[in-house]
Amino acid sequence: MKIRSVLTMLGLAAAFVVVVGRPAPAAASATPAPGPISAPVMGWNSWNRFGCNIDENLIKATADAIVSTGLRESGYTYVNIDDCWMASTRDAQGRLQPHPTRFPGGIKAVADYVHARGLKLGIYSSAGTLTCAGFPASLDHEVVDAQTWASWGIDLLKYDNCNNQGRPARERYKAMGDALTATGRHIVYSICNWGLDDPWLFGPEVGGSYWRTTGDISDNWASVTSLLDQQRGLEPFARKGFYNDPDMLEVGNGGLTQTENIAHFSLWALLSSPLLLGNDLRSVSASTLSVLRNADVLAVNQDWGGSQGRLVADNGDTEVWAKPMSDGSAAVVLFNRG
Ligand code: GLA
Repeated sequence: MKIRSVLTMLGLAAAFVVVVGRPAPAAASATPAPGPISAPVMGWNSWNRFGCNIDENLIKATADAIVSTGLRESGYTYVNIDDCWMASTRDAQGRLQPHPTRFPGGIKAVADYVHARGLKLGIYSSAGTLTCAGFPASLDHEVVDAQTWASWGIDLLKYDNCNNQGRPARERYKAMGDALTATGRHIVYSICNWGLDDPWLFGPEVGGSYWRTTGDISDNWASVTSLLDQQRGLEPFARKGFYNDPDMLEVGNGGLTQTENIAHFSLWALLSSPLLLGNDLRSVSASTLSVLRNADVLAVNQDWGGSQGRLVADNGDTEVWAKPMSDGSAAVVLFNRG
């Protein structure tokens, strides 16, 4: 077996052979659109670095930076606006409207700008009455909101879980999946209910392409390793087209050392996670770019050999994680978590 070493953080010789079991795919069911995607989504999201401090200039400058830094060439195509893009009230027709000072030119103009650069635009709402930041959200407004986004040219929806009124997750997320399907536009559906109510079971059935498995990531090593550990046992639920989402990346945000950045990125790649950058790309350093543009690591993420990566050996602080590759080889991470 050919072994491709993604990351060697230890002086360990790669003198072992890893045989990774392939879980049986989850039972097939009728999958509504948007449903399966060709590979884990790659792109950027505004939340981790900017929170609500966003506007149309940031989104456009980020799109420009994705092109000028070569990140587009590496496969990063989604530019995702997270919470706080909307005004505090709906319009007279009951439609969400852009925040008047953050997006004075409207979201469609941003979508046009992003599309003109060969990129796609993602947006955010919550399956609740309000978003997590307290803006109008989409519970019981699914059809009109999906139509609004489709009319703007939106390509991806991240759908959060705040202010859900205690209503069943499967119903809330199905209502939006059905509404997205009804638009006729291919809008990737990212389910963000923090791993509650088994999204790995209902996600594919409601049209989701990937689903958050945990609470939010923070820009520190304890958070990264905690989220990593919470992925164990979820491997069988990822399959080609449908992926577990251990949350967006913190690479380059300052809270991790370069070694930790490399480990975080390598492990997320091995987990077949969406690779959504969470840093400021307008001022990204060469060392951060070298992590984000590592073609071998990206190839591991985008390949599907029958399973996401998993822990295959645990010696305390030293761990071995591996993922089967479609050419019969294995990608291996030698991980010194200490
Ligand atoms: C939740 C989500 C985050 C982010 C914020 C926005 O916490 O899990 O990823 O979208 O809401 O308010």
